[in-house]
Amino acid sequence: MGKKIICLNKGKLSEFKLHSIWLRERLNGSEFVDQNNLQRLYEPSLLDDNLLINTYSVDANILNVEFSDGAKGSFNIDNLYNEIKNIDVIPEKKIWDVNNHNLEIFDNNKIFDNSNELIKMLKVFYKYGYVIIKNTKAEENEVINFAEKLGPVRSTNFGKLFNVVSKPNPNDLAYTTLELTSHSDNPYRKPVPGIQLLHCIANESTGGDSSLVDGFSIANFLSYNQPEFYKVLTNTNVTFRFTDIDTILVDEAKLIELDHNNNFRQIRFSGRLEYAPLLDEKKLDLFYNARKYMFKLCNSDEFKIKFRLSKGMIAMFDNLRLLHGRTKFNPSTGFRHLQGCYIDHDVTEGKLRRLLNPN
Ligand SMILES: [Fe+2]
Repeated sequence: MGKKIICLNKGKLSEFKLHSIWLRERLNGSEFVDQNNLQRLYEPSLLDDNLLINTYSVDANILNVEFSDGAKGSFNIDNLYNEIKNIDVIPEKKIWDVNNHNLEIFDNNKIFDNSNELIKMLKVFYKYGYVIIKNTKAEENEVINFAEKLGPVRSTNFGKLFNVVSKPNPNDLAYTTLELTSHSDNPYRKPVPGIQLLHCIANESTGGDSSLVDGFSIANFLSYNQPEFYKVLTNTNVTFRFTDIDTILVDEAKLIELDHNNNFRQIRFSGRLEYAPLLDEKKLDLFYNARKYMFKLCNSDEFKIKFRLSKGMIAMFDNLRLLHGRTKFNPSTGFRHLQGCYIDHDVTEGKLRRLLNPN
């Protein structure tokens, strides 16, 4: 008599129960999935509701199974366990602030020469939400050349790349000489661009220093120290709006967005683009207090790591997690020209998974 559920042990403490259909739809032999792309060749919804496991055996780390519909195959128990426990190769986020963190810098001459160095860079990127790359060519379009070594670039209404220079009648305050307080880019887009790359071609002006802030760390600090503010910031939908002569982009979202497990998912913060909803007086008072407190944290010396992007450096940061900013600069003291572009997390996550699981 077959079984619908079998029980496996992984180490002394972990015991897990496996359902027959759950296992059956993970068979990966050539009769079940295309070997080029691992996509299923049958419809799993149509498997027999009463499917049973007729026989099974465990040999070292391999589970061998024969099902009641005649299908059979083997499973690596570690892989099953990692899937059940949701263990991913993408490193977990590590919160940081100025007191416990030094700038993470990688050398462009090494990262594409050696896959281990690229793996290290991408792991650090996921751990801290950014990396700085030095020794790129201080030439126009280099940011695209760099980004495309990782994967496709995301075009927006700013184009495939954008020039951060001071110009007349700008459609964004980034293209002025003004200070930019800590902010995330493009919170009005659906979806928000995942990763920003900013490349320095020239930074000879007085001022124009850069900064990064870990939004995950800000959210963590608020949740422990100001739970009432945290609650209102994670529950109030605000409107983000971009307007220029060609387009008007609008989205509604929370300043701090949580996932289905109430863990940090994303920060959106840009005072120049954000409008609170018209709530009743008490709720609005609380929201404005919370937003002011968050603004002060995001621009405090404790959370803001300051550095100067110099010629040939790229700052690559997670725009869903980190905030960035710059001090004002004086163009009469020298030329300042950055170029930027956006890529999505598909690019970096996908690259890292593939590098860690070579064919
Ligand atoms: Fe920006």
